[in-house]
Amino acid sequence: MMKKETILILDFGSQYTQLIARRIREENVFSKIVSYKTSFEELIKEKPIGIILSGGPSSILRKEAPKCDSKIFDSGVPILGICYGLQLMVYSLGGEVVTSCSREYGKMNVEILNNENIFKGITNNCTNVWMSHGDKVQKLPKGFISTAKTQNTPFAAIAYPDKNLYGIQFHPEVVHTTAGKSIIKNFCHNICKASGSWTMKSYIDVAIGEIRELVKKDKVILALSGGVDSSVAAALIDKAIGKQLTCIFVDNGLLRKNEASRVEGLYTRNFSFNLKVIDAEERFLKRLKGIKDPEVKRKNIGYEFIEVFNNEATKIENAKFLAQGTTYPDVIESISIDGNPSDTIKSHHNVGGLPEDMKLKLIEPLRSLFKDEVRLLGKELGLSNEVVMRQPFPGPGLGVRVLGEITKDNLDILREADHIVVEEMKKADLYYKTWQAFAVFIPVKTVGVMGDERTYDNVIAIRIVESVDGMTANWVQLPHDLLGKISSRIINEVRGINRVVYDITSKPPGTIEWE
Ligand code: XMP
Repeated sequence: MMKKETILILDFGSQYTQLIARRIREENVFSKIVSYKTSFEELIKEKPIGIILSGGPSSILRKEAPKCDSKIFDSGVPILGICYGLQLMVYSLGGEVVTSCSREYGKMNVEILNNENIFKGITNNCTNVWMSHGDKVQKLPKGFISTAKTQNTPFAAIAYPDKNLYGIQFHPEVVHTTAGKSIIKNFCHNICKASGSWTMKSYIDVAIGEIRELVKKDKVILALSGGVDSSVAAALIDKAIGKQLTCIFVDNGLLRKNEASRVEGLYTRNFSFNLKVIDAEERFLKRLKGIKDPEVKRKNIGYEFIEVFNNEATKIENAKFLAQGTTYPDVIESISIDGNPSDTIKSHHNVGGLPEDMKLKLIEPLRSLFKDEVRLLGKELGLSNEVVMRQPFPGPGLGVRVLGEITKDNLDILREADHIVVEEMKKADLYYKTWQAFAVFIPVKTVGVMGDERTYDNVIAIRIVESVDGMTANWVQLPHDLLGKISSRIINEVRGINRVVYDITSKPPGTIEWE
């Protein structure tokens, strides 16, 4: 059975804070990032078994440097300060930090002076670490000892074992720190005494219990898009409350080939929740008639979705909850070191505009999970690879891939061409290895010849990119024979297309979608 054990990470704005959270979870210990401003009382309410102070861009020597409630240092909860976190600990406990004449940045060598506690089992006493700091410790607070040194500083790591306080000047969460995994492991298991029982299986048990307790006999609504997050959220809530859940799937006419029937088939076969598939193609197309401006198209698709969704949602009697597939990156993306994270969380699928009198409470069962954990959870819940490994698909769907006016004819042409791209990518075993692979409809007519006939038809662009998070992307150097096959299939099989081009623009300067 999973024990509820949490290591809290106080975020001081380090670019690596999320990585720290990941590394702890890799040790099967739940971790949560909170703002450094969180009060001592709030922190203790979470009953943390350990606290990590992240690095951060500030200098502790500046007047406005971010500081946490220093009561934590006397609480008995084990603490690990990383980089800025170490300096803050030293500063708060009466030591001295000074500006270093030589900044340490990048790969450095440290000599470990004490193979106990967080350095237990690290046999190589001279090890590579990742450093990134300008200030350094000049004098230790009372009770502390140095446990590692570099050429520049005798205090590359410090400890006060009796009080369970540890600090390291380098970043154990970064892969360049050779012993990083061992250090995190030692902190979790040796110092914080974590049982390491946090697994997806145990997560499901706990989440089901929580959902049941919250929902009781009431009803829950969820906007199912067919994407990974909403599908996994639906599967999890289904396991908890089955028929009390109603999923609304809006077919806006901007979906890929066979998408609506795929979703309908999949979910009616394998789940007990009520599924409402709303055929709203006509409404959407009517609303989009004559509109060419990409922003106006997007807005209208969004508004129409809200109307259709609300219309259905209000028909469900006794609905008290709205479930969303919000994931951890959605939550922490918006944690700035000055802001309150909950201020700016983005609302999914535009369902933020539900009628006031419905007064639905939110359920977000994936709120603490990273994307790959969501996928793992989906697999654990029995969802197929096809569902959990799906490529991202934009909310406005093919609406951002038919350039110019969106018409049924153009959408149908795009659906066929897109289907060929996906099919060939899958056959070549490349589909799941890329971030996105799709077709774009370009309403520009060019001349061609087919047999003896002169043609005058539209263009399809193929867009295949690799990316980690969609923020930047590279176009994929697809094998030429595969490109050739996709091109000739589209031209032979899709009426209305006589030219296929391959997009060789990366992001930036391009975007992934064409709009
Ligand atoms: P761009 O085109 O901005 O896209 O480079 C970055 C990533 O975001 C996806 N995308 C969207 N996803 N709603 C979504 O849920 C949207 O309105 C939307 N627009 C773009 C896009 O497919 C790519 O993965």
